[in-house]
Amino acid sequence: MNVPIEDHIRPQSLDQFIGQKDVCNNLRVYIQAAKSRKQPLDHTLLYGNPGLGKTTLAYIMAKELGVNIVSTSGPVLERSGDLAAILTSLNRNDILFIDEIHRLHPAVEEVLYPGMEDFKLDLIIGQGPGARTVKIDLQPFTLVGATTRLGLLTSPLRDRFGVICRLNFYSPEELAQIVLRAAKILQVKIDPQAALEIGRRSRGTPRIANRLLRRVRDFANVEGVNLITLEIARQSLDLMDVDEMGLDIMDRKILECIILKYGGGPVGIKTIAAAISEEVRTIEEIYEPFLIQAGLIKRTPRGRMATPKAYEHLKIQLPGKLPLGP
Ligand SMILES: Nc1ncnc2c1ncn2[C@@H]1O[C@H](COP(=O)(O)OP(=O)(O)OP(=O)(O)O)[C@@H](O)[C@H]1O
Ligand SMILES: [Mg+2]
Repeated sequence: MNVPIEDHIRPQSLDQFIGQKDVCNNLRVYIQAAKSRKQPLDHTLLYGNPGLGKTTLAYIMAKELGVNIVSTSGPVLERSGDLAAILTSLNRNDILFIDEIHRLHPAVEEVLYPGMEDFKLDLIIGQGPGARTVKIDLQPFTLVGATTRLGLLTSPLRDRFGVICRLNFYSPEELAQIVLRAAKILQVKIDPQAALEIGRRSRGTPRIANRLLRRVRDFANVEGVNLITLEIARQSLDLMDVDEMGLDIMDRKILECIILKYGGGPVGIKTIAAAISEEVRTIEEIYEPFLIQAGLIKRTPRGRMATPKAYEHLKIQLPGKLPLGP
């Protein structure tokens, strides 16, 4: 079978979904209410860092509602006709999932507004003086939008969502549960302590936890052992350059850049990006949110600053402090 592994271990119901208790409890209520009214669920926006479970939740919502889900993404919908074709193909109460919804083209977004509000499409046919609009009725549907960048959504679009859910980073214990669940599905034997160690080093992110589990399994296979112990987990994570906090080489490069090249900051994100040859967007979307959450960098109006905790973690002495005695 060539089902991608990500799909294989994706939770299929709200009960299987670990963590994000508030979001899950709220969704459970809204889903039940919509089902009992036989109406579509309100349009729902899921936002949070990459790999926290937005796509997974969208599919779970469809399953729990007992409806079909049609999946697309902001950048893929190039013309308003692309969206119109999808909207007119939906059945009653279906879910339309638009990933990266902050990257919708403005013309496509315009078509979406009346669709979301009144389940109608205003299509312009023809060009110039001969152009005319036709209204098409749509089946009631639920739009589920996912974004890593709530701030990049236009406010008219944001205002049309009845439910807005923010996904947070997961605790090491929750991630350990996710690792244990995935290990079971992948038929890997793992000690709970080892699962917790992977959980601790996964930057609060299920996708990373699952990835680290697979890599640790590779190390265990090569070593010829069939149980992943705490020691094997530690050794292999160290070999992968994932440190005790879960920081990888790029995270450390960012911190070292701020501390060693720019005296701890403040320094602008563009300067950091140029110094370490990485894209601003990648730093902002993938690395920085966790570094901020972990209390290693601070955002200030004049740029990013390393915190004392970052100095401590990298074992670099804070300027202005006398060296500690032996
Ligand atoms: N709460 C959870 N419990 C168990 N596994 C989870 C959970 N959340 C996410 N996962 C796992 O993590 C992986 C990534 O999740 P998902 O693809 O839903 O993230 P995403 O938020 O859509 O990311 P992106 O922003 O990159 O699209 C999935 O393969 C899924 O198996
Ligand atoms: Mg996704």
